[in-house]
Amino acid sequence: MASVLINFAHPALEKSRVHAQLMPAVKSIPGVTFNDLYENYPDLDINVAREQKLLLSHDIILFQHPFYWYSAPAIIKQWIDLVLEHGWAYGRTGKALQGKVMGNIISVGGPEQSYSPEGHHQHTIHEFLLPFRQTARLCNMEYAAPFVVFGVHKYEYEDIREHSRQLTETIKRLQADNFNISSLSQLSYLYQILQLPAQTQQ
Ligand SMILES: Cc1cc2nc3c(=O)[nH]c(=O)nc-3n(C[C@H](O)[C@H](O)[C@H](O)COP(=O)(O)O)c2cc1C
Repeated sequence: MASVLINFAHPALEKSRVHAQLMPAVKSIPGVTFNDLYENYPDLDINVAREQKLLLSHDIILFQHPFYWYSAPAIIKQWIDLVLEHGWAYGRTGKALQGKVMGNIISVGGPEQSYSPEGHHQHTIHEFLLPFRQTARLCNMEYAAPFVVFGVHKYEYEDIREHSRQLTETIKRLQADNFNISSLSQLSYLYQILQLPAQTQQ
């Protein structure tokens, strides 16, 4: 069974509609380690040793957050800057994370069609997530297809509950199946693992 670590970041959870629902659902999945970064580090004073230890003891590391300014809330950048140390996570001797999986679970204000060359944001969500993909690659990790909830402003409570259910199922499949890791990076979106035929899994 693959071990899953969720590094969660929402700087204003009291105002959240989407993650206020997704967060407790993910947190309650047995075996998932839920790491709330803003709760643990309200002053962004990240405990690097603790975070590195958490990384070493998990196979799949997912950042869960709202999409802010085409990226992530600030604490995720701070976490990356501090935790992924040269000589540990990358560089000639930095092999601590080799073979692990990194990915994003994001909620996005704009609808999916606005994230296209012809759309309002002119680039795909995958293009905006490139710094995460390449960070994973530099750390000898595989970058999984992202789990994206687009167009969140139009959603009612019940719509979000459906995404919450889909996310829960996706994470349970990630835990349960010994995936061919490269198959995760070949998908467009992570929830598509729910449709993968058995033979593409190891
Ligand atoms: C500071 C800030 C920046 C945002 N930047 C973007 C953005 O770049 N693209 C986008 O589609 N939505 C953007 N949004 C909308 C959020 O992604 C959306 O409100 C969030 O995913 C909703 O999740 P929540 O209900 O858990 O807060 C932004 C919202 C805030 C507050």
